[in-house]
Amino acid sequence: MEATVPPSTPAPAPAARPHVVVFEKVTKTFGGGPHAKVAIQDVSFVVEDLPDIGELVAIVGPSGCGKSTLLRMLAALRPHFPPTSGEVKVFGKSIERPGADRGMVDQKYSLMPHLTVVGNIAFGLRLRGVSRKERRDRARDWAKKVGLEGAEEKYPSELSGGMQQRVSIAATLILEPKILLMDEPFGALDPKIRMQMQELLIQLWKEQESTVFIVTHSVEEAVYLGDRVLRMGARPGRLVEELKLPRPDEPPEVMRKKPWFTELTQELLRRLETDAPASGALPGSEKWR
Ligand SMILES: Nc1ncnc2c1ncn2[C@@H]1O[C@H](COP(=O)(O)OP(=O)(O)OP(=O)(O)O)[C@@H](O)[C@H]1O
Ligand SMILES: [Mg+2]
Repeated sequence: MEATVPPSTPAPAPAARPHVVVFEKVTKTFGGGPHAKVAIQDVSFVVEDLPDIGELVAIVGPSGCGKSTLLRMLAALRPHFPPTSGEVKVFGKSIERPGADRGMVDQKYSLMPHLTVVGNIAFGLRLRGVSRKERRDRARDWAKKVGLEGAEEKYPSELSGGMQQRVSIAATLILEPKILLMDEPFGALDPKIRMQMQELLIQLWKEQESTVFIVTHSVEEAVYLGDRVLRMGARPGRLVEELKLPRPDEPPEVMRKKPWFTELTQELLRRLETDAPASGALPGSEKWR
């Protein structure tokens, strides 16, 4: 009997990994007529899905250039969302509303005054139907991670601004969002705790393989944390340039003492202060490794 050879079927092409985030000519205008205010204009960028690692994107720029607008747009929070024109895509789909894939630590962090530290940190897990025992255990672990051991049963009114900020950070991180959006998250922290929180963020970012967007007024923080910096300019708010940076593979106090680090930081600061047009790669990149 003659063997029948099955017709050869071409192997299916591997599904392309959708980009984590795409901004396509995004413009947001508040109000109309003569009082219309353009918050961001024609902002376009792509964050690719790299295997096993998320990108850490730092956003810098003068006050009012649209940094919070950009993050809140990505979180699909009103009134910044929806865009007036253009499109925002997350994992290949146009966003329509806030989702569990995106977690936001807001610039104006707001805690629930009637809940304790643990209650605030556990709140999102409650909404996800996690049992009371498990969510309290996990929230206690997180309180410890952000240095709030001993304050677990305190209420927001009994906490300093920096402590409240850490509660807000823990309340978002506990949910392990794929995309973490942080708007000046370390602004109220003293330098020592700030460095500890930066290290914690890096450790979590590596563990959770999440993509992180962090808005900061600290150029040092942007250069230390960022794989990439989006530098924005004002009037109207726009993306001026994207800069590639080395990975933070050493503790902040070590990395900050390297000459190339100082060189990079000073150049970025100069570009920010002069609102310089796009001027190419930052200096010293050959000394990164
Ligand atoms: N809800 C709103 N209604 C009207 N205008 C707004 C609103 N939110 C922001 N804007 C305007 O959009 C522009 C960008 O604001 P945005 O808060 O994004 O700036 P930012 O870069 O985050 O500033 P900062 O560094 O001070 O936090 C500003 O001119 C601001 O006045
Ligand atoms: Mg802001």
